[in-house]
Amino acid sequence: MHQHISQLLFEIGEFQLTEQSKLSEIKVIEKSQNQLVSYVDIESEKRLVKGLLELTPTAGFLGEEGTSTLQNSDLYWIIDPIDGTTNFLFGHSKFCISIALYADSKPVYGAVYVPAEKELFHADSSGAYLNGKPIHVAQRLQLSETLMATGFPYYNFKGLNGYIEVLKTLMQSTQGLRRMGSAAIDLVYTAAGRFDGFFELNLKPWDVAGGAYIVQQAGGLVTSFSGEDDFVFGTSILAANENIHQLLSEIIAKQEF
Ligand code: IPD
Ligand code: CA
Ligand code: CA
Repeated sequence: MHQHISQLLFEIGEFQLTEQSKLSEIKVIEKSQNQLVSYVDIESEKRLVKGLLELTPTAGFLGEEGTSTLQNSDLYWIIDPIDGTTNFLFGHSKFCISIALYADSKPVYGAVYVPAEKELFHADSSGAYLNGKPIHVAQRLQLSETLMATGFPYYNFKGLNGYIEVLKTLMQSTQGLRRMGSAAIDLVYTAAGRFDGFFELNLKPWDVAGGAYIVQQAGGLVTSFSGEDDFVFGTSILAANENIHQLLSEIIAKQEF
């Protein structure tokens, strides 16, 4: 299965890179405040659905660009054809395709492909991989040694003050913070040990489903801010190795969201 999916992701990734090189011709629609979408997102989703259906003809879909007509609660894909659309449209390289397969309400496969960097992250029951090589979350234990990732609130500004307080604390106690502009990339970089932890509010299932499973299979812990399991369909996510997860949870718990 992974072989077939890799080929599909490489093809759609090439399509996205070609389209990105003709940026000024891309028609952009603003779905709602700060939520951009282009025909490249929509066309990529169509190609993803077509390719994945060849592999799993009975599967349902939950896709950012509207593919939810095919329903099957026992087996379904959660897909984001471009995570990091704003980066894509402004000519940056940090965007990706993110997919996850759920069977009986549990993830069984996840893949995140970053076309501009030719990096394919994936996970299945045997572990997590980057371009076929096993990856693992970072083992750093002290907050002062860590590099953190987050995403800025951009449409729901409730909880902004608490969020800024968390940033203030981390700015003063870590090696720094990054805001890549793609939650899926933040997650897979956490899985590969390039970040020690990632947290964000108000993401959607397709932003996190693939990347969160890859973090888990890379030995990381993923929960909501309050330590629950509802990080895919809920309103917050916190991913890190177990020790850093605990330290981040304590900082976050001091605020109201
Ligand atoms: C966005 C990215 C971004 C996150 C936003 C998402 P999109 O997804 O993951 O990092 O901060 O919340 O909506 O719109 O580029 O698919
Ligand atoms: Ca997204
Ligand atoms: Ca998207």
